[in-house]
Amino acid sequence: MALKLAAVSLTLAAFANAQSWQDKAQSVDPTTECQVYSYPPVQAMIKNYPTIWQIANLQTADNDAIALFNTLNSTIPQINPKGTPMGDFSNVTPTYPAADPDCWWSYHQCTTPKIQGINPDVTRCPTPNTWGLTVDDGPNCSHNAYYDYLQSQNQKATLFYIGSNVLDWPLEAQRGLADGHEICAHTWSHRYMTALTNEEAFAELYFSKKAIKDVIGVTPQCWRPPFGDVDDRIRYIAQALGMQTVIWVEDTFDYEYPTLPQTTIDQNYQNIINKAKNGTYDTEGILVLSHELQNFTMSENMKWFPQIQQAFKWITPLAVCNNNTKPYIEQDYTYPNFEQWMSGVRNGSLLAPTASPNAPISLPFSSGHAGSVSTSIPYGSPTATAGVTGTGGAQSSNKSAASPMMAIPASSVAVLLTTLLGIVSGATLLL
Ligand SMILES: *[C@@H]1O[C@H](CO)[C@@H](O)[C@H](O)[C@H]1NC(C)=O
Ligand SMILES: *[C@@H]1O[C@H](CO)[C@@H](O)[C@H](O)[C@H]1NC(C)=O
Ligand SMILES: *[C@@H]1O[C@H](CO)[C@@H](O)[C@H](O)[C@H]1NC(C)=O
Ligand SMILES: *[C@@H]1O[C@H](CO)[C@@H](O)[C@H](O)[C@H]1NC(C)=O
Ligand SMILES: *[C@@H]1O[C@H](CO)[C@@H](O)[C@H](O)[C@H]1NC(C)=O
Ligand SMILES: *[C@@H]1O[C@H](CO)[C@@H](O)[C@H](O)[C@H]1NC(C)=O
Ligand SMILES: [Zn+2]
Repeated sequence: MALKLAAVSLTLAAFANAQSWQDKAQSVDPTTECQVYSYPPVQAMIKNYPTIWQIANLQTADNDAIALFNTLNSTIPQINPKGTPMGDFSNVTPTYPAADPDCWWSYHQCTTPKIQGINPDVTRCPTPNTWGLTVDDGPNCSHNAYYDYLQSQNQKATLFYIGSNVLDWPLEAQRGLADGHEICAHTWSHRYMTALTNEEAFAELYFSKKAIKDVIGVTPQCWRPPFGDVDDRIRYIAQALGMQTVIWVEDTFDYEYPTLPQTTIDQNYQNIINKAKNGTYDTEGILVLSHELQNFTMSENMKWFPQIQQAFKWITPLAVCNNNTKPYIEQDYTYPNFEQWMSGVRNGSLLAPTASPNAPISLPFSSGHAGSVSTSIPYGSPTATAGVTGTGGAQSSNKSAASPMMAIPASSVAVLLTTLLGIVSGATLLL
């Protein structure tokens, strides 16, 4: 649709030169920040990726990833794709069994799988009175003012980055890691995952994981489904790729702005704060859904931050409240545990973000036996390492290449996201 035109017109435009993430972190003028630029490491890898902002498939994947998918496919739970990738479930919900056999989050917010061996979703900070700060849909090109604010507060967050945004805004993604935040994946093209085929769902997860590794240098082991839309089929595929599914307990609904007025978003923040004050989170903390989607969502988060700080005892990333000091496959990145955080430690020990185009990524799935998914994902409930029966193994992918950059201007990305988000509100009404 409009995206194709935008991409074509861009090839005629002159790209600004790539800078370092430090340079890109200087400006807080959204127009300057969002100027499209060309970054050589991305040019060197882009041809191995699906088209940005389109549903991923495995056509550009390397042999290891394809072989892994082919072995996996026959073991994936036989659950049919639901509705459309834009979230129209009107043909599904009238006949979908009320017992919710697929543990479909969009139906009744199910987070405990019906199929044995699939890890439950992570939704909370287990530690009392804790606001788990989770920020989706980045990296946003204009996030410097917001990231500067978090830095001024010595605050770290868990950032759920969209693969297409990571390739569009690689230096902005690098800043996320450099600032000490925790990076998780948020799929390749931000569609409703339960609508996708096995191959598409696999590719959406695989390429978002790979984009973060190629551009920043870490391999994430956590992901959040766009719109929360996940079922046991999608959870299984994620687990096979070594990625823990993360949902939330409280939603600010900031992404519904301007469909929802600011007064409603403010009230949502206020309600969560009131619950903290009346003891609702005295035994267990929460993950809260917020976004770096646009200026408004970031401004709201900043505006409410002081009151969140007053009402909650702690505001932490997901890794910290789970004592998950090594959230990435790479072991030389360390975050504080909760006890350290309580004593004032905020900075982990992180290597500088480093682009490594076409680096091998670890695919911790055993392709040895039908039905075997064995992963050890350092998140979540006591059953989190149980895995589906089978033995582990390791595969890695390795590619080479170089090709022209295909960035899409922020404006068309915003249009696409707005379109997707507009449909969510419709879907929410349907369900
Ligand atoms: C994967 O398995 C499903 C059935 O579970 C089948 O419909 C589909 O064609 C398979 N996909 C590929 C790419 O082999
Ligand atoms: C706290 O407030 C929430 C929201 O108003 C309410 O649902 C809950 O019952 C209250 N809990 C207590 C312990 O008062
Ligand atoms: C980032 O935020 C800016 C400012 O609100 C917005 O114009 C832009 O479309 C957003 N970009 C992306 C990729 O979300
Ligand atoms: C929102 O936009 C204004 C005007 O461009 C800018 O001054 C402000 O820093 C932005 N806020 C955030 C949180 O990005
Ligand atoms: C994290 O470790 C602290 C002690 O260091 C402990 O009190 C807390 O229960 C642990 N939390 C989790 C989620 O394991
Ligand atoms: C973390 O590091 C930053 C600079 O990188 C520093 O300004 C800040 O004081 C450190 N915070 C803590 C709690 O050590
Ligand atoms: Zn999202």
